[in-house]
Amino acid sequence: MLGTGYLGATHAACMAELGHDVLGVDVDASKVGALSEGKVPFHEPGLPAVLRRNVEAGRLRFTTSYEEAAEFGEVHFIAVGTPQRKGEFAADLKYVNSVVDSLVPHLRGDTVILGKSTVPVGTTDLLRARARGLTGHTVEFAWNPEFLREGHAVVDTLEPDRLVLGVEEGGRAEEVARQVYAPMLARDTPFFVTDTATAELVKVSANAFLATKISFINAVAEVCEAAGADVVALADAIGVDSRIGRRFLGAGVGFGGGCLPKDIRAFMARSGELGAGHMHGLLREVDAINMGRRTRMVDVARDACGTLLGAKVAVLGCAFKPDSDDVRDSPALNIAGQIQLQGAAVSVYDPEAMDNSRRLFPTLDYATTALEACEGADAVLVLTEWRQFRELAPAAVGAVARGRTLIDGRNCMPRGEWEAAGWTYRT
Ligand code: UDX
Repeated sequence: MLGTGYLGATHAACMAELGHDVLGVDVDASKVGALSEGKVPFHEPGLPAVLRRNVEAGRLRFTTSYEEAAEFGEVHFIAVGTPQRKGEFAADLKYVNSVVDSLVPHLRGDTVILGKSTVPVGTTDLLRARARGLTGHTVEFAWNPEFLREGHAVVDTLEPDRLVLGVEEGGRAEEVARQVYAPMLARDTPFFVTDTATAELVKVSANAFLATKISFINAVAEVCEAAGADVVALADAIGVDSRIGRRFLGAGVGFGGGCLPKDIRAFMARSGELGAGHMHGLLREVDAINMGRRTRMVDVARDACGTLLGAKVAVLGCAFKPDSDDVRDSPALNIAGQIQLQGAAVSVYDPEAMDNSRRLFPTLDYATTALEACEGADAVLVLTEWRQFRELAPAAVGAVARGRTLIDGRNCMPRGEWEAAGWTYRT
């Protein structure tokens, strides 16, 4: 497993759980050290147990040596990051390229490499050509995208909705993948074998569709707000139509995280390069709607406080979604930062994401509990729908806050209870 970040560490542990012998490779020695001791360097429910169990059973090891990896693997998985390029929308493939450059010269025979990272369409062909210049052996590349959600990563990996594999004709990759994923295939998990371009596009299209669904309901939310309608009731009513579906119709401060934002931008850039103008235009709008939600939330907070200058604002939640400590492109943290930059004192609390938030945004005031964050607040903003926030007692918050405005950025709070306790509820 080449790369042991969120995707690689999870996939490595889960492949060992299936009974395979797995070697995880990373250039980051501290990550390798932690994982070797059975420690997961991020918050993912269930993963520490799977990791520890397989490290202890001797099926799972970690190393920084590509030479060792080349000797060890019958099949190699690429699981490194493909971040957004600085100052551009396109994906940066430097880590994927570097894996190929580091591994391939050490290979001692013909090899199959399955890519899992999310990449722009056409990448497999580029990597194949790149590898050809580095070795005399045959290196077969296939693309096997991953659909795991943070917070559900273990279940999503061990019991995926589907497996997708993009192969070149006449190769061994499908046979190898059938061996690796045998337990899942035995359970009749749908298995789509396609050409490599289709497999690469399946992944980015899935994320683009999810992002579009969220931005669609957020655009409807804008109309609802202007017309005095209720977007949650509306989503419930349209969501029962199985052609539409209720999931990913959660209106609010929009999507963030390490995947959706950068993946739709990379897809936008690649579509433009390919002359597919409609996809480019559609995703530009999806991104604009999403980013607009953040500014809108700051406007609502300003309106509630009269002015942000000298106001005190409590922000509950910094993670990009609940059950995660990930603050990458988090709408919550972005909004907290904007409010502070406009002159308010912002006190934030999150059950898991405090350390990561502090590193990214050291100037915010970090409270040790939700109630402490609310002390003296003119307005209380809920920006990540953690269960403990949904269960807060309005009277307890009222006893410490200065104002009586609750701003629900995720449409997750029990509105009636708060209004009955004398709060102004805004969403
Ligand atoms: C996503 C995809 O779901 C996954 O298949 C892919 O492999 C990686 O990207 P993840 O980043 O873990 O997974 O988060 P997800 O659960 O999809 O949520 C993304 C963002 O959308 C979060 O910020 C979430 O709060 C937001 N969201 C989700 C909404 O705003 N409304 C919704 O209705 C659903």
